[in-house]
Amino acid sequence: MKSVDYTHHARAKPLEGLAFRSAARYEPALEGLVRAFVSKGFIDERERAGKGIADLVRSAMNRLGEGDVARKRWQYTRTHSAEVARFGFVIAREAQEHGLAEAKGLDAALVFAGGLIHDVGKTFIPTAILVKELGIDFYLFTAFGNAQLNAAEKRIMREEHVSIGTRYVRLFGAGAHIRMMLDMVGLHHVMYNGMDSGVPSYPSLLRGVDLPFHASIAKAADFISAVMPRHYRTNGFISSIDGALAYAVTAAGTELNPAAVSCFITGHYDIGYERAKALVARLAHPMGQAGVSDIHDARLYSKDVVREDPEFKGLIAAKAARKMLAYDSEMLECARGYGLDLSSLRVN
Ligand SMILES: [Fe+2]
Ligand SMILES: [Fe+2]
Repeated sequence: MKSVDYTHHARAKPLEGLAFRSAARYEPALEGLVRAFVSKGFIDERERAGKGIADLVRSAMNRLGEGDVARKRWQYTRTHSAEVARFGFVIAREAQEHGLAEAKGLDAALVFAGGLIHDVGKTFIPTAILVKELGIDFYLFTAFGNAQLNAAEKRIMREEHVSIGTRYVRLFGAGAHIRMMLDMVGLHHVMYNGMDSGVPSYPSLLRGVDLPFHASIAKAADFISAVMPRHYRTNGFISSIDGALAYAVTAAGTELNPAAVSCFITGHYDIGYERAKALVARLAHPMGQAGVSDIHDARLYSKDVVREDPEFKGLIAAKAARKMLAYDSEMLECARGYGLDLSSLRVN
C-alpha cells in the first residue's frame, strides 16, 4: 500500500493553509461577511455624505486617514492614491497639450480628484483581508511564508473594492462630474483590451476606444504606481522608476491605453508626442501581461528588451524637470481647490 508522504506536511505553512482551505470552501460565507461589514460602514457614511466633488474628495481622504489615527493603517493606499492622482493629472494635461481627440472635454482637475478617490472602496473592506493586501506588518507575515491573498480573497478584494467605491461615490450626487468619478472608480481595473487579468471584465463590452479616456488614464496611472519599486507586491523585480515605465510600455496596447502611456512619457521626459507614440508602439509586447499566466515573460521582456533599447535608454536620460515642476504647482492649486494640503499626501 502506498503510504502518504508527510515530508512536505512537516514544512507546510499552517496559517496560510488554513486560510486557503477555509476561504475556498466557505467563499460564499466570506463574501457575506464582507457585505455585512460594508453595510455597517455605509450606515454612518450615508448620514455624513455631502454633495459634489469637493465633499467627495474630502470625505474620501478622511476615510483614508487624513490627520487621524487611521493614518498609519492607510499609509500605503494614501501614497498610492496621491501618486495615481499625480500621474493621472500629468497624463490628462499632456493629452490636452497634444490636442488628442480623446482629451476633448477632459478636466485635469477632475482626473486628479478621481485618482485620489479611486481606491476608497478599500476602506470598507474587513481588516482581515486588507492586512494581507496592503502588506501591513508585512515583514512579520513573511515569517509565515510570504502571506498572499488566496484566490477567493483576491476575487473578493478586487471586485468588492471597485463596487463599494462606486456605491460610495453615488452618495455624493449624480451630476456629470460625479459620473466621471464613477468611471474612474468603477473602471480603473479594466484593461484596454476589455480583459481583467485574463477574463473578460465587467462591463465586458467596454474596451479600447469605447472605454472613457479618463478611465483609461486611471488604469494606466494605477498600473504605474502599483509597479513602483517601493511596492511590496513587486517582490523587488522592478528596481527603479524607469523599470516601472518599461513595464508600462510592455503592457501598452493590451492592458494599457497606448495614448495614456505615451502622454505619461511626454509628461516626464523630453520627447515629442509622435516619437513617444512610435516608441511605445515599437516596444509594446504583443501579449502584454496577458493576465498572470505569462507575467514572468513580461517581466523579462520589460527588463531585457525595453530597458536595453537604445532609444528607451536615451529617453530615460532626458528627464523633463522644468515641466514636472510646473505641473507640481498646478497640482498644488488643484489640491487647495479641494481643501487639501498636498504635502500631507506625501507627494514628492
Ligand atoms: Fe484598485
Ligand atoms: Fe489603485
